[in-house]
Amino acid sequence: EVLDATGLHVLPGAIDAHVHFREPGYTHKEDWDTGTAAAAMGGVTTVFEMPNTIPPTSTPEGLRAKLEAASKARVDFGIYGLLAEDNLQHIAALVEGGVAAFKLYMGNTFGNIPSPSTGGMLEGFEVVAKHGLRISLHAETASIMALRQQRLEAAGRRDPLAHLASRPAIVASEAVSRAALLAEWTGARIHILHISSGDELRPLREAKARGVDITGETCPHYLLFDEHAYSEVGPVIRVNPPVREKHHQEALWAGLADGTIDMIATDHAPHDPEEKTRANIWQVDCGFPGVETQMPLMLTQVAQGRLSLTDYVRLSAGAPARAFGLFPRKGALVPGADADIAVVDLAARDSIRAAGLHSRAKVTPFEGMAVQGIPRHTLVRGRFVMRDRRLVEGTGGWGQSVRRVQAMPAPAPRNLDQTTETITAR
Ligand code: NCD
Ligand code: ZN
Ligand code: ZN
Repeated sequence: EVLDATGLHVLPGAIDAHVHFREPGYTHKEDWDTGTAAAAMGGVTTVFEMPNTIPPTSTPEGLRAKLEAASKARVDFGIYGLLAEDNLQHIAALVEGGVAAFKLYMGNTFGNIPSPSTGGMLEGFEVVAKHGLRISLHAETASIMALRQQRLEAAGRRDPLAHLASRPAIVASEAVSRAALLAEWTGARIHILHISSGDELRPLREAKARGVDITGETCPHYLLFDEHAYSEVGPVIRVNPPVREKHHQEALWAGLADGTIDMIATDHAPHDPEEKTRANIWQVDCGFPGVETQMPLMLTQVAQGRLSLTDYVRLSAGAPARAFGLFPRKGALVPGADADIAVVDLAARDSIRAAGLHSRAKVTPFEGMAVQGIPRHTLVRGRFVMRDRRLVEGTGGWGQSVRRVQAMPAPAPRNLDQTTETITAR
């Protein structure tokens, strides 16, 4: 099979550290076939999939059910194990069974996953630190403010700090600070998911300066939408955490530019169109699909000069490969990457259409948005899974767990860094 790549660019396939493929349990929203089809169409060759399914990926049985569902994957995948207060006795078995990282919910989320107390979190960090796997955190919680308000209300008093509870960005920064401190105490490696505000950057930057092994991601929706989206896009934009004011959006771009934010992930969170368009806004499910639209949206930013192509490759592939132990084999700017490739047409133009998405959830806040830069072919470990904008038949099941890559010995970093620098400096 000769590939004519005249006029095209060859990039490492994107590694998306944050997707929800919903199977088992919520297959009316998505499953591993439709989810990884969307990934293949989007130039994404590896995904890390979240544990808020039914059953949650919190026990060996939950992991077995998840791996069974993932056996039809078209792209490579890491499975997140849940780290909660009540499953610490299962952590070793989850690691043994092949989870690639852990997920801890500090605040409320879809699927009624309980959040650990701070003490429970500390213990969880200690347990996972022994295994060396990264813990990704939904670092959003209103708990301090909620507890405070409950106490004051019970005492019949007004809360003079009530205005802070309506400033969730402040609450998120408290969560990031607390997580970073617990990571520092325990030596756990952590990752801050879906950074949506400028407030989270200071504790992230400070923790990095103290030597904490901490990384952070933001998502295309926080970079491309601001508070106007609520009136302009409508209820579909509802996502947790919410898109915020313009000044937060600008802070996130600055955080990408100065290296505080390490990577772009999508928080691909599909829901049925009916679940996204309910009349009562508070009953609209949070999240929307993103794995298929990330690359066109971000390559559009490259075309517009807001991001260099080299930086895009670092943010979409190199940084997640390093953070999750896939370096240098997957998505790295080095020899030895295992042929996970997105062949892209940087000149091609299109517009995003929900009806054309391969996710089961045909709904997107990016509807109608003009894009420039489209993945034309996707290869996973050297094999086409998407060719000429079409899924390749018979590739369901080609996707494998990334644990085999994580288990490889780490390379000597010096030469690899020089390679990266040479490319950056060009
Ligand atoms: C996610 C989901 O639907 O699973 N929703 C969301 O709005 N981001 C959950 C999450 O990432 O917290
Ligand atoms: Zn979350
Ligand atoms: Zn999520």
